[in-house]
Amino acid sequence: MSVNHLTVREVLGIAPVIPVIVINDVRDAVPLARSLVDGGLRVLEVTLRTSAGLEAIQLMREAVPEAIVGAGTVLNRGQLEAAVTAGSQFIVSPGFSPTLCRAGMALGVPMLPGCVTATEIMAALDVGIDTVKFFPASRSGGAGLLKDFSSVFSQVRFCPTGGIDLKSAVDYLALPNVLCVGMSSIATAAAIKDGDFSGITSRAKEAAGLRPV
Ligand code: 3PG
Repeated sequence: MSVNHLTVREVLGIAPVIPVIVINDVRDAVPLARSLVDGGLRVLEVTLRTSAGLEAIQLMREAVPEAIVGAGTVLNRGQLEAAVTAGSQFIVSPGFSPTLCRAGMALGVPMLPGCVTATEIMAALDVGIDTVKFFPASRSGGAGLLKDFSSVFSQVRFCPTGGIDLKSAVDYLALPNVLCVGMSSIATAAAIKDGDFSGITSRAKEAAGLRPV
């Protein structure tokens, strides 16, 4: 399965919200991806926090071609390679590792590392990355800090995640340096476990409407 030809900024520009997914049962992967895409959220981050993550990515890619499926919580090179082999179209990590970013760039996969300080952003810029995750957003200074970053790092764009819900998303999306936000509350573990895919679609619709895409 090919990676894709999208840049990370193009991926983040597709929809205002990326659902962050923790999947426990691979049988939920395809109906979940379908319910999110039906609600207008095509970009999905499947975290590797559970052992089902990799297979879920593969199944979603095969069955829901409209979805752009990335791997989240990628912490090391082994996970990076496994995620790309499973068909991940972008890679998200909670923090910034130059080694991991260089390895991902060499594989040609869009990398979205996490940065919350000026020092981390400068380190990311040093390896050629100007689009980062801002995690954990609400505990790291929130929209106010991102506003401060916009004057010193005018070339950098962010995807804040962590502690963001549909209500607070609006404050982040109003910032010129924010491309989209990530949140787990669109497809919660409970909703997935209960098979509440119609509820997931309706939250996805609300999220997709937060900003014109
Ligand atoms: C992430 O990995 O981006 C976060 O765990 C999502 O944060 P949330 O659960 O607070 O939405």
